[in-house]
Amino acid sequence: MFENLKAPPADKILALMQLFRDDPRDTKIDLGVGVYKNAEGVTPVMRAVKAAEQKIWEEQASKSYVGLAGDPAYSTAMIQLILADSVARENVAAAATPGGTGAVRQAFELIRNTNPDARVFVSDPTWPNHVSILKYLNIETIAYRYFDRETRGVNFDGMIEDLKTAKKGDVVLLHGCCHNPTGANLNEVQWREVIALINAQGLIPMVDIAYQGFGDGLEEDARGVRMVASSCPEVLIAASCSKNFGIYRERTGLLMAVSQDAKAQALHQGNLNFLNRQNFSFPPDHGARIVSTIMNDEVLRADWAAELEDTRLGMLGLRQQLADELQRRTGSDRFCFLAQHRGMFSLLGTTPDLVEKMRADNGIYMVGDSRMNIAGLNTQSVPILAQAIVDAGV
Ligand code: LMR
Repeated sequence: MFENLKAPPADKILALMQLFRDDPRDTKIDLGVGVYKNAEGVTPVMRAVKAAEQKIWEEQASKSYVGLAGDPAYSTAMIQLILADSVARENVAAAATPGGTGAVRQAFELIRNTNPDARVFVSDPTWPNHVSILKYLNIETIAYRYFDRETRGVNFDGMIEDLKTAKKGDVVLLHGCCHNPTGANLNEVQWREVIALINAQGLIPMVDIAYQGFGDGLEEDARGVRMVASSCPEVLIAASCSKNFGIYRERTGLLMAVSQDAKAQALHQGNLNFLNRQNFSFPPDHGARIVSTIMNDEVLRADWAAELEDTRLGMLGLRQQLADELQRRTGSDRFCFLAQHRGMFSLLGTTPDLVEKMRADNGIYMVGDSRMNIAGLNTQSVPILAQAIVDAGV
């Protein structure tokens, strides 16, 4: 059997991580994988996470199984964080998953199992693993225009035009905030227009939200997903705690199925539980327990929110510094989009050749499509990057 195995396609983000590790230059700069790093280049354990872990260690009396959907305290805390009061709690079925990727995978499986004819519309570009998992599951994927390579903002007219070609029952995958990889996001008016189109055409929205708190703030970043949840008859939401709680390796995610029919919730919940059981049985608990411990303790919650806010403001400062440095060096405003983008990423919008050149000449590692992880910078490396961008002729 094993002789039939073929090498799987390389994941460009993970391949880049390895290339960076193998580069001996001590001047190298990692703008690749989406992991937050502070000014010292460290991905810290957040203060509230440490405190919650200590509390769990002291108080937890058993490591026995929890439930197929995970701990209800975690689901409730996350539903509150993401959806607030946009929908009634009894309208939401939710199951913990191994990371946000686990939630994405489960959502796609649910789509395929429930409506094998559904096509999934994804933004061009989107997180490469969205496309990879869809392909793996043999789900037809259609790219809708999203990024305007001239303005580096959203090509909203193109997006709407492309979504108009979707048929009833097709799924539209949207990024809740901090679009990965572009950094360009929908505004409130645009969210409203997309929702109207989704409802007019009988489409199913799926929102992937992995960076709440990294863009404009915890509440602001949830505005779009809350509008969708309160306005569409059926919604899938895949959420991740990797970034905003900094618990990447704990694999902490949540899949939500929201409907306006509270009577159907038990059926939806049963299906989410069943999916978990088929794929991995019980979801991991440690990260989920960290999250619910923080969210249910006023002091820890406030400290977590404050540290997250510092992180967000730090990234905004780096964005502004980079935009300023580039303006000074080029005498033009053409890089000011970097300060307008939100979240961990910006798509520089240059060619793979120039990305490769910056890697070879300057040890700057960004993903081949020119996605930069802004959190990989610090105030000293920003001018180095700015100069490299200018020297490469971007
Ligand atoms: C990223 O986009 O870099 C992150 O979401 C990490 C990953 O798994 O790709």
